[in-house]
Amino acid sequence: MKSEPIYCFMDAVAGEAEKYARDHSSPMSSLLEEMEHFSLTATPYPSMLTGRVEGRFLQFITGLCGARRIVDIGTFTGYSALSMAEALSDEGRIITIERDPRFAEIAQGFFDRTPAGGKITLRQGEALEILKSLPDEETDLVFLDADKGQYAACYGEAMRILRTGGLMLVDNVLWYGKIFAPKDEDSRAVAEFNELVKGDPRAEKLFLTIRDGLYIIRKRAA
Ligand SMILES: C[S@@+](CC[C@H](N)C(=O)[O-])C[C@H]1O[C@@H](n2cnc3c(N)ncnc32)[C@H](O)[C@@H]1O
Repeated sequence: MKSEPIYCFMDAVAGEAEKYARDHSSPMSSLLEEMEHFSLTATPYPSMLTGRVEGRFLQFITGLCGARRIVDIGTFTGYSALSMAEALSDEGRIITIERDPRFAEIAQGFFDRTPAGGKITLRQGEALEILKSLPDEETDLVFLDADKGQYAACYGEAMRILRTGGLMLVDNVLWYGKIFAPKDEDSRAVAEFNELVKGDPRAEKLFLTIRDGLYIIRKRAA
């Protein structure tokens, strides 16, 4: 008898599990819901959106670690930045970095419509250059979700700006499963990045299989 390839079964389970997880997680604010709808239907890159489950995860982490200074690398339409901003105290601040002026304008338009958006400063430009301008060890939480080829370089800067005990979350570390047999530049970059983190003694780390993979890294004392 011919058996079904295992990945078909796993893909079906993953799809169902994602829907189920979404259904059993707290709802988004109405503005995040609108941003999600807009990102999925009116931009050419719907897969770039973190979305409801990961967005709620970012909110949980922001609240749990009591973060006050956050850096969000890769704004897109603003979903991750606004998710974290909604969980921040009034004194909390987020810098979000986006190189594409079209996305920067769209995200700013959403931020301007809510008080939580007042905690967000959008910096338009290259992530690495902007990270280099930020001070040492004053950041509580970094979310890295931009150019995969620059993950390693951004990681170095993110480690520098994080305070001891600060957290870094890195998105797409499974890179659609392509890291297991990398055949293109981005897949190789993500696979090499994962090895870099694995071997970094400064980092306490947990590789989670949420969505497309999420690395959680805590900066250890020197
Ligand atoms: C995956 S999307 C970010 C998704 C977003 N965090 C969310 O929650 O929906 C990546 C974004 O990073 C931007 N980007 C990519 N490389 C960048 C770089 N080197 N510097 C600044 N922005 C970059 C892209 O233009 C894109 O909008």
